[in-house]
Amino acid sequence: MIGTGYVGLVSGACFADLGNSVWCVDKDKNKIDNLNNGIIPIYEPGLEEIVNKNFKSGRLKFTSNLEEAVKASQIIFICVGTPTSKNGSADLSYVYNASKEISKSIKTFKIVVNKSTVPVTTGDKVEKIISKKAKKRNFEVISNPEFLREGEAIRDFRFPDRIVVGTNNKKILKKIESLYEPLIKKGATFFSTSRRGAEIIKYAANAFLATKISFINEIGNLCEKANVDVEDVSLGIGLDKRIGSRFLRVGPSYGGSCFPKDTKAIVNTGYNFKTNLSIIKAVIKSNDYRMDMLSKKAKSILNNKIKNKKITFLGVTFKANTDDMRGSTSLKMIPNLIKKGAIIRYYDPTGIKKEFSKTKNVLFCDTISSACADSDLVIIHTEWDEFKSIDFKRIFKKKKFKIFDMRNLYSPKDMKKLKISYYSIGR
Ligand code: UGA
Repeated sequence: MIGTGYVGLVSGACFADLGNSVWCVDKDKNKIDNLNNGIIPIYEPGLEEIVNKNFKSGRLKFTSNLEEAVKASQIIFICVGTPTSKNGSADLSYVYNASKEISKSIKTFKIVVNKSTVPVTTGDKVEKIISKKAKKRNFEVISNPEFLREGEAIRDFRFPDRIVVGTNNKKILKKIESLYEPLIKKGATFFSTSRRGAEIIKYAANAFLATKISFINEIGNLCEKANVDVEDVSLGIGLDKRIGSRFLRVGPSYGGSCFPKDTKAIVNTGYNFKTNLSIIKAVIKSNDYRMDMLSKKAKSILNNKIKNKKITFLGVTFKANTDDMRGSTSLKMIPNLIKKGAIIRYYDPTGIKKEFSKTKNVLFCDTISSACADSDLVIIHTEWDEFKSIDFKRIFKKKKFKIFDMRNLYSPKDMKKLKISYYSIGR
């Protein structure tokens, strides 16, 4: 596995757990030293256990020596980042650099699998780069996009809906199928297509899911005005099997390291192929607008008088079960509220965040109670289990407080009974 980010580390550890011998490679020596000492760089439920177990058994190894790892492997997965570059396209420099490095060490036959999220035709370019140093008969470049979610990564690896492999080479396909055999036996669908097809599938899946979320978020806006509960609408449409109930939860704008990046990148790919992806463009616009809209809603809950008001965020990461701040709505909302004179406290189960360490009037609290105690408004920003049954009446010192539940974790009826001033999304 080249790259020990979410995809490389999780997939590497899980492949080792299936009985394979795996090398995880990273240029970052510090990260490799830490991993060799049992220190996991990311918060991902269940990962530490699998890494430690397989490291001890010798099936999982960490190194910054790419040459040694490539020589010892039959299959090489490229799992490096493809961040957004200035014009919105995917920055492929890490993929191309990895390809160059790999090419220098190919002496016997290797399958080079691209797991990074890359625009269509990247596989063709990777093949070209590798063929500059390695003999064509010594390698085959294929695509095998990853669909795991942060916070659910282990489960998603072990029980995927489908495994997508892009190659026209039947022999290689068989080899990859046998690698995934344990998962296929448990019910995963193995789907093969062309290399370019697999590349587009990854972006189309993420863009479609982002569209689904933005769609229900906008329907939620309508529900709120029409005094209808969006949760009912979500269930009501999701029961139609053609629509499906998943990814129809309203919330803050979608965030993370993938949806915001990948929607922009596919629009850019559209430009390169002279194709107007107008729906995805509209989704990006709708999602960006939502962050400001929610800041305005928070202000209006406090009657637009937020100077010196104490506002608490419960959770600041982009969703629950992760420590990842990338693309989080809080990164936009907190500065928006600070600008208007609010004082922010936040509690997050994954601890203090460096993103706010230099921001004036933003304070981390290490318990829910201390974060909320004398707050004017509590914003439930992520859906951690520990936020789902808070005894607000007990922890609030102030008699008058308000709650803005951006994940609809509580029932408006129950809150009314408790005489709590409660606001949620789309209801
Ligand atoms: C996403 C995809 O779900 C994975 O399949 C994919 O492999 C991954 O991107 C990637 O390309 O690497 P991830 O970014 O980890 O996974 O997180 P999601 O669970 O998809 O959530 C993304 C955002 O959508 C979060 O902000 C979440 O709160 C929001 N969301 C999700 C909603 O607002 N409503 C929903 O119903 C679902």
